[in-house]
Amino acid sequence: MALDAGKSGSFMIGGAIRINRLGFGAMRLTGPNIWGPPADKAEVMRTLRRLPELGVNFIDTADSYGPDVSEPLIREGLHPYGNMLVATKGGLVRPGPLGSPWPAVGRPEYLRQQAFKSLRWLGVEQIDLWQLHRIDPKVPRDEQFDAVKGLLNDGIIRYAGLSNVSVADVEAASKVFKVATVQNRYNLVDRSSEDVLDYCTTHGIGFIPWFPLAAGQLASKGSILDRVAQAHGAAPGQVALAWVLERSAVMLPIPGTSKVSHLEENVAAADIKLSDEEFAALDASGKAEFRRH
Ligand SMILES: NC(=O)c1ccc[n+]([C@@H]2O[C@H](COP(=O)([O-])OP(=O)(O)OC[C@H]3O[C@@H](n4cnc5c(N)ncnc54)[C@H](OP(=O)(O)O)[C@@H]3O)[C@@H](O)[C@H]2O)c1
Repeated sequence: MALDAGKSGSFMIGGAIRINRLGFGAMRLTGPNIWGPPADKAEVMRTLRRLPELGVNFIDTADSYGPDVSEPLIREGLHPYGNMLVATKGGLVRPGPLGSPWPAVGRPEYLRQQAFKSLRWLGVEQIDLWQLHRIDPKVPRDEQFDAVKGLLNDGIIRYAGLSNVSVADVEAASKVFKVATVQNRYNLVDRSSEDVLDYCTTHGIGFIPWFPLAAGQLASKGSILDRVAQAHGAAPGQVALAWVLERSAVMLPIPGTSKVSHLEENVAAADIKLSDEEFAALDASGKAEFRRH
C-alpha cells in the first residue's frame, strides 16, 4: 500500500493555496522540553525529507520551538520547499528550558520582529501562513490584530491565522483581517474547542487541531477505540487521527514526530475509512471521556 497524505483530501488555505489535509507538526523536532537541538539530528533530517515523498505538503512550526531551532531545521532539510507550505507562529516566549509556562508577548513591535526573524530563519521572502500563537492578555487584543494586519498589508505574510482562541476572538479578529486558520487543542477526548471547530467549518476557516493523536484512556485494551483499531489492523493513535480527519472537511491535523517510522504510521491513517457506526461510537465515547475529566 502506497503511503500518501493526499488520501486525506485537500483544503485551500485562504481560498488560494491547496494543501493535503494531513500535515506535519514540527515542534517535536527539537531537543527535550522543546528546547535546544535534537538528540538525533540525522533522523530529524530523514523525517523532514520523507515528508514530500509521502505527499505531506503542510508543515506547522513556530519561532518558540527550540526557540529558533525548528525553523532552521526545516530550512536545512527542505529549502527551497517546492510546493510545501511552511506555516509558522509568533507571540510566545521561552524564559528557560524547563517546559511550561510559555508566556505570551503580544506587543506589536515584538510580533513584527518575530515575523521578520521567521522570514530569515525559513529563508523566504514571504511567509505563506503566519499565526498569532496566543492572544496576550496584557495587550489590547485589537493592537495585536492590527499588528497582524500590518504584516499582511506589508506583504511580510500572505495569510494569517490565530491559535488558542475562542469564537469571540475569531469574530473580533475577522473585523480586522481575514482569518485563514485557527489552531486549537483538539482530539477525540479533548472537545473543549467544539464550538470553535463548528464556527470554522461554517465559515470555511482551516481548523488545525494540535495534539491530534491523543486518546487518553480510550487507547486502553478492550476500549471501543481498541476494538475499531483491531478491526482495521491499525494502532489506536491511527484511528484517533482518522476520526479527527473525518470530523470536519476543514480539519487540518498536524501530528508531530521526530521519527520516520512514526511519520509513516501517521500518514497511513489517511487510508483508514471509518464506517458511520464506527465514527459515531468513537464520537460518543470520546465525548463521555472528555466529560469525565
Ligand atoms: N498552537 C499551540 O499552542 C500548539 C501547542 C502544541 C503543539 N502545537 C503544534 O501541534 C503539533 C502536534 O502537537 P503535539 O506534538 O503536542 O501532539 P501529537 O502530534 O498528537 O503527539 C506528538 C507525540 O506523540 C508521539 N508520536 C507521534 N507519532 C507517533 C506514533 N506514530 N506512534 C507513537 N508515538 C507517536 C511523538 O513522539 P515521537 O517524536 O517519539 O514520535 C510525540 O511525543 C506540534 O508539532 C506543533 O506543531 C501547537
